[in-house]
Amino acid sequence: MVSPQGVSRARAPRARTPRPGVIALVFLLASVPYILFSDRLLLGLVHDAAALTTWQTIKGWGYVLVAAGVVYLLERRIARRHRRALAQQRAAYDAAIEGWARALDLREHETGGHARRVTELAQRLGQRLGLGPEELENLRHGALLHDVGKIGVRDAVLGKPGPLDEDEWTEMRHHTVLGHELLLGLPELREATTVVRSHHERWDGAGYPDGLAGEAIPRLARIFAVVDVYDALRSDRPYRRAWTEDEVHAHLRAERGRHLDPEVVDAFLEMLGGGA
Ligand SMILES: [Fe+2]
Repeated sequence: MVSPQGVSRARAPRARTPRPGVIALVFLLASVPYILFSDRLLLGLVHDAAALTTWQTIKGWGYVLVAAGVVYLLERRIARRHRRALAQQRAAYDAAIEGWARALDLREHETGGHARRVTELAQRLGQRLGLGPEELENLRHGALLHDVGKIGVRDAVLGKPGPLDEDEWTEMRHHTVLGHELLLGLPELREATTVVRSHHERWDGAGYPDGLAGEAIPRLARIFAVVDVYDALRSDRPYRRAWTEDEVHAHLRAERGRHLDPEVVDAFLEMLGGGA
């Protein structure tokens, strides 16, 4: 498993941007001789006072334009390096998050790639619901990490083939809070963390851990919840076989406005071609 600290060590962007002091020194070394020698050169070449004034004006404007061009090129170079560093940092985060998701699937003996499946479905659903690129990225991270808190749930509870007793349910429900606390130190994942904490809330307010209802539930969590319920029912479990596509569609329709956000259910069923 990769620690949050490991993320920053994995590919710390190397800052090779020219130092401001060096830039100022080069600017001075180029400007001072230009000012000193260009005036002498003009005086040697132009003897008419009016023409000399005109040439000095041209020289001054030329200097300003060249300096502006150099500043522009430097800024562009710095901006490119900054974008490259950000892309490297994002790639490092993605690699760490996907590693976590694979580790969680292994812990639950989930060989079918639950995290990958729900992430792909959530992305498609998010696009259908008009999420922007940043929201889609947050949703993707939230989907990959939604059950990260289960690393704090005992194997005996996590892998129990039969129904859980009350204490075991309490422990299992706590994975939402544990996951949220685990990711609190990563500001880049703040929005994704809303999925981790709130993906078991219910539209009617009977969910956990906070008993939020309706639109008080973060939207990314409402979107993800539909996908999570769908994938859970479509998958085999130790205590039951996977439901058929029609059975799951009927269940989603029944939970529309009870467990799940009606607008999200409609969009999801349309996406799957089942209609609302
Ligand atoms: Fe969960």
